Parts: sequence; C-alpha cells; structure tokens
Amino acid sequence: MSTFAIAPEAISTSTSDAVAREVREGLTATPKTLSPWLFYDEAGSYLFEEITELPEYYLTRTERGIFEAHADEILQTAALGQGPAGKLTLIELGAGTATKTGILLAAAVRQQGSVVYQPVDVSETALAEASENILNNIPGVTVRCQVTDYTREALPLNRLPNTRTLALYIGSSIGNFTPDGAREVLRNLRAQLLPGDTLLLGTDLAPFAGAGAPKTEAMLLAAYDDAAGTTAAFNMNVLTRLNRDLGADFETDNFRHKVLWNPTESRIEMHLESLVEQTVQFPAFGGTDAFTVEFAQGETIHTENSYKFTPAAVEALLASANFKATKSWRDPQHFFAVTLATAL
Ligand code: AVJ
Repeated sequence: MSTFAIAPEAISTSTSDAVAREVREGLTATPKTLSPWLFYDEAGSYLFEEITELPEYYLTRTERGIFEAHADEILQTAALGQGPAGKLTLIELGAGTATKTGILLAAAVRQQGSVVYQPVDVSETALAEASENILNNIPGVTVRCQVTDYTREALPLNRLPNTRTLALYIGSSIGNFTPDGAREVLRNLRAQLLPGDTLLLGTDLAPFAGAGAPKTEAMLLAAYDDAAGTTAAFNMNVLTRLNRDLGADFETDNFRHKVLWNPTESRIEMHLESLVEQTVQFPAFGGTDAFTVEFAQGETIHTENSYKFTPAAVEALLASANFKATKSWRDPQHFFAVTLATAL
C-alpha cells in the first residue's frame, strides 16, 4: 500500500491576493463583513483545535460520540447497493486536522480492508497534521491531501475504478453558510458525485423546548463565548492576520468579541465590535489598491454565522441539492445530527 504526504505539486493555495480582494470587498460593504475562512491561518487553526476541547463547545465531542456509537452502521449504510468488488473512497470537505474522521476511517478499514482518504482544506498545516495522525494511527488508510478552498474551486475528486464515494462534510461546517450558500456548496459537491454516491452531513441542531436536558439559547451563547476567552481570541486573530498578511494597522485593543443568537435566522453570529471611532489603513497589495476603513464606535464587523438546523431543515437542504436523506443519527440529548444522504 502506498501513502502520500502532501506533495508540493498537489497544493493550490488560496493566495494573499484572494485574501486582499475578499477583505476589501467585505470591509467596504455595509454592514462590514469578513468571511469565516479567513480565520484559519496557522494560529487560527490552532485556536480552533483548542475550541473543540472547551467544556462549553459541545459540538465536537457530541459528534465524536455519535461516530463512536454508529461508525460501523454509518459505513455499512453508505456501502449498501455496491457491487462485490466496490469499495468506498472517503473524501472530506474542510477536513482540518481530521481528528474525528479517524473513527470513520477505522470502520471503513474494518469493513473493506483498506480505504483511500482524500481530505480537502484551506489550511496546509492542518492537513499535514491530519495526514500524520492518520498514517501513524490507522493502518490501511491511504491519504491524499489537497489544499483547496472547496467553496470556490472544483473539488479534486480522484475517482478510482470500482469505487463509490462517501463525501464527509462534518463538524457543522455547513453552518457557516447562508441557506443559499449552503445549497450552492452542496450542489457543487453533488455535481461531482455519481448517483448512488453518498454524503455524510454533520449539523448542529437548533435549540428546542423538550423534556430532559434541552438545548438552550444560553448553552449556544456559551459555546461561542467561553469563559477562557479562546473563542474571543479566535475571532480577534483575524485582525492580527490582516495586519500580518496585508499590512493593515488594526489596533486589536480597540475591538471586542461579540456573540449573539439570531432567532429569526436560527444562527449564532460572531462580530468584532469597534470600541471607539477609528480609521484602519490597508496599503496597496498585489492587484488591490490601498484603502481605508472607517469605524463608528459600536460598529461591528460580522465575522461568522453558525446556523443551527431543525431535522426538517437538514432534509430540505439536502433535497434542494439533489440528495435524498436516507438515515440520521443523533446523540441522546439531540444536540447534534449526522445525516447520510444519497446522490440522486
Ligand atoms: C467550524 C464552523 C463548525 O460554527 O461552530 C467555533 C466555527 N466559530 N467557534 C462553528 C467556530 C467559533 C465552527 N465551525
């Protein structure tokens, strides 16, 4: 069996030019926005890993629990309808360091002896770590990494003979997109799959008023505004990144992390609030001219949405991208859902 670390020729980076364009567009708009993919430089990817271990951030450990309880059934269900020689190849969008994916890969190896795993992410350092963890811990997995922004570039899907693809889009990464954007991402993915291929979609669930230990708004807010300040540091890091990568002059002390629950849109919003009236300068960069950004006191940069779904909304979203939800698994408290869908 051959294994691959990241080959330099396989790397297509999202360049600083793309960052400059995106930032100028977002910060000169009203209201001001920055795309959440900008969080994930090396420091941001590290901070996100820390977030996933916070007591308040229930998402990661809840999804991991679902995988631990149901990985074999998930893989078996994904493989249904395959010919005897057929194997599943796993591709993962926004793989990050792929810590939870190992549970699914181990189940795939149990089921079919070996598996090719193709993680895709914007962070090269995260993929390098993913690759190392998996190659060291799960024999039988071949890893092919691709540094790509899957929201704007075609997926590097390597289709092997006699294989069916199981695409993983887990961790509620889909929650970063507006309903239109989410449909677009899933349609792009669907366009590169064949009928009978499958998608495993992880979604954080909307708060509900049920018996037992219902998910509350307070619990959601705490997950994005933890006591240790890690999420605040993650949000603020985007300003440090723009200073470093684009030569901007943000005074980070003049901003604060702000989180709110938007019940109409069923989403958590993260913002960076300007504590004073101030001007930030961006020098010319690549093809982008110099520009300035004026902030009123209290004005915010909207840096992230994190949508929370009802089970019906998950099914509708999948259907809108030509997938049929076939089976869904949830934790006992119904905080999080993992849904398997077939490409029609
Ligand atoms: C990686 C998009 C799933 O929305 O929960 C965590 C990112 N932001 N804390 C999320 C995030 C702040 C995370 N996703």
